[in-house]
Amino acid sequence: MYLVELLQQLMISFILNDRLVTTNVNPGMSLLDFIRYEAGLPGTKIGCREGDCGACTVLIGEKLSERVNYRSVTSCLYPLINAHGNHVVTIEGINLSNSLSPVQQAMADHAATQCGFCTPGFVMSFTGLCMNHETPTIQQAIDAVAGNICRCTGYKSIERAANDIALLMQEKDVTDPIGWLVGKGYLPAYFIDIPDKLDKIEPYSDESENHTLFIAGGTDLMVQQPDNIYEQEINSAFHGKLPQEITINDCTCTIGGATRVNELLTSTELTSKFPQLRQYLMLVSSEPVRNMATIAGNIVNASPIGDLSVILLALNAQITSIYKGKTRLQPLNELFKGYKQLNLEAGEVIQYITFEIPKNNTLFNFEKVSKRKYLDIASVNTAMSIEMQNNTIKKCSISAGGVAPIPLYLHKTSDFLKGKELNAETVSQAVEIMQSEISPISDIRGSAEYKRLLLRQLFFGHLQKLLGKEFELFLNLTR
Ligand SMILES: Cc1cc2nc3c(=O)[nH]c(=O)nc-3n(C[C@H](O)[C@H](O)[C@H](O)COP(=O)(O)OP(=O)(O)OC[C@H]3O[C@@H](n4cnc5c(N)ncnc54)[C@H](O)[C@@H]3O)c2cc1C
Ligand code: FES
Ligand code: FES
Repeated sequence: MYLVELLQQLMISFILNDRLVTTNVNPGMSLLDFIRYEAGLPGTKIGCREGDCGACTVLIGEKLSERVNYRSVTSCLYPLINAHGNHVVTIEGINLSNSLSPVQQAMADHAATQCGFCTPGFVMSFTGLCMNHETPTIQQAIDAVAGNICRCTGYKSIERAANDIALLMQEKDVTDPIGWLVGKGYLPAYFIDIPDKLDKIEPYSDESENHTLFIAGGTDLMVQQPDNIYEQEINSAFHGKLPQEITINDCTCTIGGATRVNELLTSTELTSKFPQLRQYLMLVSSEPVRNMATIAGNIVNASPIGDLSVILLALNAQITSIYKGKTRLQPLNELFKGYKQLNLEAGEVIQYITFEIPKNNTLFNFEKVSKRKYLDIASVNTAMSIEMQNNTIKKCSISAGGVAPIPLYLHKTSDFLKGKELNAETVSQAVEIMQSEISPISDIRGSAEYKRLLLRQLFFGHLQKLLGKEFELFLNLTR
């Protein structure tokens, strides 16, 4: 192959607002830096650069079959390589030539902007909500901006704008939201031609065998090692490299490694069979971060407080990985060896995560304590799966985060409880074993003693939630 052809294939092409962009800048550059410093569009703001403030929110439109689905992302954590083949929309890209869009108007009507620094981010998050294929409730409109922080307004005026936007959206044509939004002056007319323009972009092709860094959503890597990414030859989980689908056969759920957290949350098949999962996943980061973060990234970043790792450990998940063309299957509870050390070879990639969805007689619960309920990582989190036969524990799996250098499967406690009659004596012995299995440290999220106490209380919380009133008797005895 000629060098020119090779270079063209490694170019990143996407549509930025209404124009095609083709670039050979570093594929690990953040989309935010590209937008501001390469494309010269200053409307997208820089706040924290860590996914926390939402000032840099933009929309990514991805063509799936015939339609383009839009989602909000924090562009500070979005690696440019992932933009290839997509439509990137910044605040400049939704401006109409001579009027405010109804979303911008709602913000203005309620004085939901003061210094204005956060406003482009809020407008983009609300506009992303309008572009999806559902009519939102007021709560969903408020949730859409859960990743946006404002230091001026106190949020009440923004909530009133959210209220207006949710009401306006009740009229939306959910079969053709983009056509409807263009017709009603929410979006400029060029949006209609975007699907055809996206079709003309060649798939990203990178057959290099010299990759030194694997990146998925980037929400961990772009925070932890933004400079290092520039030095590496990066390989992205997307562009067909890794499966991104959710398959359910009977009660066995198989999730592709590149599946994003919000794809789990919005999967009607998965959440209809495992309804609690939705409320647990709402506790993970914020809408734009969930729109980027993948399930395998959450496992492999090996954070001792990773929410998905803790949930999947108690579900006894298995992971399928591939290395040098060979696949292998291992239980997730054998993956974590030490702080940020995994039972994976360098370059080994997780393809699938598989688990049994809890059936009628298996009870499952997840608890998380953090300083703020939303957009915060846990001080301690824990999950429990339990199957009872009358008053005897038939099966039990408990996991906990924040109490050891790794997301911990509580082997000894889980094994002890199997086959035991549930009574005060059993519970108090289990608490003792649990305390011997953990080794929390004091840090910014709480003292070691506090974390020990939290885990004990959350264990009681599991039993109380799963087994109901009859458990309260035992709880009183073990206090
Ligand atoms: C603002 C913010 C809030 C957050 N809140 C939470 C929270 O509440 N709860 C929580 O659990 N997490 C939270 N996180 C962490 C985030 O959810 C995880 O970092 C995310 O799931 C990582 O996925 P990713 O695809 O972005 O990983 P990346 O950053 O792309 O990668 C992380 C690591 O995983 C490796 N990797 C990725 N995919 C694979 C694969 N398939 N096979 C092998 N290795 C792979 C990469 O090489 C890298 O080492 C938060 C992060 C941010 C920025
Ligand atoms: S700059 Fe704060 S979320 Fe991106
Ligand atoms: S209006 Fe100033 S930060 Fe929100």
